[in-house]
Amino acid sequence: MVVSLVATAFWAMLPAYVPNNVAVLAGGGRPIDAGRTWNGARLLGDGKTWRGTAVGTLAGTLLALALNAVRDPVVAATGIEALPTFSLAAGFALAFGAMLGDIGASFLKRRSGRERGAAFPGLDQLDFVVGAMACALVADPAWFLATFTPRVIAAVLLITPLLHITTNVIAFKIGVKNEPW
Ligand code: CTP
Ligand code: MG
Repeated sequence: MVVSLVATAFWAMLPAYVPNNVAVLAGGGRPIDAGRTWNGARLLGDGKTWRGTAVGTLAGTLLALALNAVRDPVVAATGIEALPTFSLAAGFALAFGAMLGDIGASFLKRRSGRERGAAFPGLDQLDFVVGAMACALVADPAWFLATFTPRVIAAVLLITPLLHITTNVIAFKIGVKNEPW
């Protein structure tokens, strides 16, 4: 069933969706690269901070635990049995991996001459998905393989860019983000 598949993909990825949005609100303070440059461009740039990364990771991890707490009632109400429960390792890895993927994308943006805030279509929408899934696979392989079946991965790759574009446009319109991507 399509609804069940999309709901499962969304639920499994929620701990990875939230960190970057929380980082937008929590960001500020010292940049991770401490101003260092490489070949004349910043290593990461002022948009990747210790505080944003830490608070974003914490928020995503706590969200995974909160989802565990409400899973059974949600399954009872919706009948969607496939909603996963998160191991602590998986929840943390999804959140931290999402932040790492976004940091990796900034690294690639700076290497390709893009200033802070520049768009990099494709990379902007999927960097954190790749980071989150790769980290979850390493942190808890059994959980990853049971949760991210090929069908669920396909659903994630379809819904994530749509969700990403929507939330960023909203964040831009309400004035918490400088660019709509
Ligand atoms: N942010 C942060 N730490 C992170 C990720 C994001 O502090 N690890 C905060 C920063 O304040 C950043 C804002 O969230 O400016 C928006 O994030 P993003 O769009 O990823 O950064 P940009 O400023 O656009 O920089 P870049 O071009 O490197 O993506
Ligand atoms: Mg940006």
